[in-house]
Amino acid sequence: MTKPLRLGVAGLGTVGGGLVRLLTAHAGRLALRTGRTIEITAVSARDPKKDRGLGNALGNVTFHADPVALAKDPGIDVFVELIGGETVAREAAEAAIAAGKPVVTANKALLAHHGRELAAKAEAAGVPICFEAAVAGGIPIVKALREGLSGNRIDAVYGILNGTSNYILTSMAESGASFEDALAEAQRLGYAEADPGFDVDGVDAAHKLTLLASLAFGAAVDFNAVHVEGIRQISALDIAFARELGYRIKLVGIAKATDDGLDVRVHPAMIAAESALGHVDGVFNGVVVQGDFVDQMAFEGRGAGAGPTASAVMADIVDVALGLHLPLYGVPVAALGGARVIPVTSRFGASYMRLSVVDRPGVIADIAAILRDEQVSIESLLQRGRAPGEGVPVVIVTHEVQEAAMARALARIAALESVLERPTMIRIEEIK
Ligand code: HSE
Repeated sequence: MTKPLRLGVAGLGTVGGGLVRLLTAHAGRLALRTGRTIEITAVSARDPKKDRGLGNALGNVTFHADPVALAKDPGIDVFVELIGGETVAREAAEAAIAAGKPVVTANKALLAHHGRELAAKAEAAGVPICFEAAVAGGIPIVKALREGLSGNRIDAVYGILNGTSNYILTSMAESGASFEDALAEAQRLGYAEADPGFDVDGVDAAHKLTLLASLAFGAAVDFNAVHVEGIRQISALDIAFARELGYRIKLVGIAKATDDGLDVRVHPAMIAAESALGHVDGVFNGVVVQGDFVDQMAFEGRGAGAGPTASAVMADIVDVALGLHLPLYGVPVAALGGARVIPVTSRFGASYMRLSVVDRPGVIADIAAILRDEQVSIESLLQRGRAPGEGVPVVIVTHEVQEAAMARALARIAALESVLERPTMIRIEEIK
């Protein structure tokens, strides 16, 4: 057997603890698969004395207060970055690369913002950066795109990429839980980010989508060009109307190659209840890939939590142990293509619109006139309840239309005196 692979693990939180447990449970199996013993020889954590419920699993590891010092520790062969954030994590990853050590990271924010620079540094140093755990938790989607589907031109990737927001939307739909209670429960279960705004405002999903799009299209997609909306404005009423129309509301990430550029966006969308992603509930994530030779393919699994994320981290560690070394985005940095991301206003698609309007004659005629002026065609219209002179909900589903026209129509409708609240607009996406 070759010499042991010595890991330096930065961060002993949910994922770090999961990794320690996985290694303890499967040390023998992993040694058989890699031909080497894999061991944690050093760690960094804010509080070395904290009881993490790991018993003696860590043995006599070296404790560092500073992840950068850990990255430089000559007693480690691989730097495993599980601290999150961009500043210290970046410094530590760069220190590891400079010391010629492979980096395994679960840090989507770091790679979404600085992936290209880190990839260039790693390439120059001849070491891999592995990030299976950064996208969709336990689902091996990075490997699927970079290895299993490498014979294809990837035309589109769609995903439910944030377990916390999917958990919240599912709870709201199934048990009528409030947004706040569902979020608190997701946090208690260890799914949420340190800043839960990242989960519910779509930022975490956008980080992951940026990475998936970069991998899928062989282009360094600029995170700042990705259109991002979260789920805070989704109401129980919209969820109920969606169900009635045969849809589910999901926070989806969409990355499509178009003739005009890359269409990359994250927002809540109505998708067919019977579609592959329509069935992905709770903390589960789902990814649908469209490849030119393989056609469409769906992946589903746990997108967050200690076990699934540790499983993905370990898959990368096994690759390092086996000497597998692939470029971060599947192609060398110099070969990365241009990545013009088109604005969301160029989207062409159907939409759901919910209005609260005064229940009196002529209101629908005014709304219909605006839709006519902006060339927005109505597919169906629903009005519920009867409250003369008071507010009632009206739902309009449009045919496919340019988003810019839809936005103009919505702004004009919102300004009508008979429209009582800001209209809600949710895009309807034809994802199989
Ligand atoms: N907070 C993330 C989620 C998990 O809820 O999906 C880690 O990516």
